[in-house]
Amino acid sequence: MNGSAEMNAHVLLAHPERNSFNGLLADTTRSSLEGAGWGVTFADLYGMGFNPVESPEHYPSRADSERFHAQTEQRFNADEGTTPADVAEQIELVMASDLLVVHFPLWWFGMPAMLKGWIDRVFVYGTMYRSQMRYDAGICAGKKMLACVTTGASADSCSHNGRESDTRLLMWPLLFPFRYLGFDVLEPEILHGIGGVAFVEGDEDGTSGIGRYTQHWTEQIAGLATRPAISYNRDDDFDDNKRLRPDAPAHSPFISHTSNVPWTA
Ligand SMILES: Cc1cc2nc3c(=O)[nH]c(=O)nc-3n(C[C@H](O)[C@H](O)[C@H](O)COP(=O)(O)O)c2cc1C
Repeated sequence: MNGSAEMNAHVLLAHPERNSFNGLLADTTRSSLEGAGWGVTFADLYGMGFNPVESPEHYPSRADSERFHAQTEQRFNADEGTTPADVAEQIELVMASDLLVVHFPLWWFGMPAMLKGWIDRVFVYGTMYRSQMRYDAGICAGKKMLACVTTGASADSCSHNGRESDTRLLMWPLLFPFRYLGFDVLEPEILHGIGGVAFVEGDEDGTSGIGRYTQHWTEQIAGLATRPAISYNRDDDFDDNKRLRPDAPAHSPFISHTSNVPWTA
């Protein structure tokens, strides 16, 4: 992935303030990739007024006008060629890209609702996944995805024994939708101690590290080709009941041979 004229990236920014640290990081992504010869498309989800709420209002034409079932209507409208225009545009940009870069701040230990809603609406049932087209056979197989996430809390408090809980582990369910679609999900970049309001203790001036962080991020973009991907089980690691085979590797506490829920026996 050395960036050539044929390589394209789609950059998503999920932050309500264009002039935020996340906005600056997303700009850095765009300029770094373009500088390396990539074609880059950019979606500032708040700036473009993307509606992240999946609901009946997007579907004037319905398979079932009585009762709204999101997957049914997504698939029906996909089949009819009436996928909502804002969603169809995002699908086109994702499918035209070799790399998806997603920028977001950690909000309540997850992604902002804007980004979750982008996933809810853009990962259309029928178009982006169906039973025979997911995981190893996902439509985005061969594409890479990279999340760049900022936290207000410090690296210490986001570490495996930190008070805020293990942020790298939190990333696993957050990024699993991308694996579901077949992406190679690269190890996310998590930049800590940003913002400096309530979460940063002893570093209230969270802006002080901006130059250092953007430099670090620029280096990460330059090193994309060798950045490790998260290991996931392959489809044939599971038996007919979709349970992990005894001899298959376990790559995370989320899919493992014994339960990792410590508060039950
Ligand atoms: C609604 C909301 C929830 C937040 N939740 C968290 C959190 O769970 N963990 C954390 O470390 N920081 C949290 N923060 C702080 C943001 O992550 C932090 O301000 C942001 O990453 C800074 O980047 P920015 O300057 O681009 O906004 C939260 C901020 C907001 C507004």
